[in-house]
Amino acid sequence: MTTPSLDLSLIDQAVQILENGGLIAMPTETVYGLAADADNETAVRGTFTAKGRPADHPLIVHLPNADSLRYWAQDIPPEAWLLAKKFWPGPLTMVLKKQDRCGTFVTGGQDTVAIRCPAHPWAQALLQKFSGPTHRGLTAPSCNTFGHISPSCAEHVHQDLGIKPEGKLDMILDGGPCNYGIESTIIDLSQGMPAILRHGSITREQLERVLGFHVPDGGKNSPRVSGRLKSHYAPNTKLRLLDVRTLRQRQQELYANNQKVAIYADTENCITHPSLLVAQLVPPQNAKEYARKLYEVLHRLDAVHADRILIQCPPSQPEWVAILDRLTRAAA
Ligand code: TXA
Ligand code: MG
Repeated sequence: MTTPSLDLSLIDQAVQILENGGLIAMPTETVYGLAADADNETAVRGTFTAKGRPADHPLIVHLPNADSLRYWAQDIPPEAWLLAKKFWPGPLTMVLKKQDRCGTFVTGGQDTVAIRCPAHPWAQALLQKFSGPTHRGLTAPSCNTFGHISPSCAEHVHQDLGIKPEGKLDMILDGGPCNYGIESTIIDLSQGMPAILRHGSITREQLERVLGFHVPDGGKNSPRVSGRLKSHYAPNTKLRLLDVRTLRQRQQELYANNQKVAIYADTENCITHPSLLVAQLVPPQNAKEYARKLYEVLHRLDAVHADRILIQCPPSQPEWVAILDRLTRAAA
């Protein structure tokens, strides 16, 4: 993984654009974010328009460090400080009761706000510079059209939202490929009993080790999370997630029907075909590596315009939970 060395003149330029209400693509260690000044209602509303996302979906506020937390959240429970100390900066988002300062145009009308401190050096530099004496923050949903695959490198952003005037963004900060590759873990700490709203690179076990008690998945009463929609992170090509037993059978059926197949499976589970197997990629054995490459792989499998993308079900150990979650939604 190579992160290009920080270009402070680009960071200055980005800060200026944001101060003028512009929209920029910000690299983070999870995925690229579509950043706007969280205090600027017009700019924040612009991110919904750029993404084509329903305006009642709440956004994550990005801050440089835990010291800024109290300017955006209140009634912060001790668990939040514990988790911040352990995992920030990093791929953990906490949902807390919002400060009055935080507009409901950020929170989708809710009285809670999602907050995260990204670790990526470019995001850190940008947030530190932008934050200033008034502790400003940046809203940043993943930098993709609503429902599409999230971007894990600047190239994905260029291809999807793009730069004005043809595209939607004022600037794309290229901070290299994202190290984690899937969105942050979201934990709700706003309603007494902490609950996981979205699985990510920080696992339930890691959270429980710090908190010392079981952290369940959020139930029906949890706040709305668009990443929890049944269909999300989806390529244009129909995608099927199959266990090894049905994988070969399904390929044979598709070939028999003259359907083009793009596959992500171990070599022994893949049947070659001279014309109908149009892409074949082999998944890594390691969950971190798999997560890092996931969206890149989905983008590549989508780009060959197969009739079907077939993906071999990943293992079921805890470190694969977030990956399985994203694949299931991509297949829905
Ligand atoms: O890794 C990430 O979290 C990336 C990077 C850019 O930071 N951001 C990201 O943003 O994934 P987005 O908007 O694609 O997903 C944020 C999720 C949404 O599913 C949203 O519903 C949820 O966070 N969310 C935001 N505010 C919330 C709140 N107050 N209560 C519950 N969920 C909330
Ligand atoms: Mg998203």
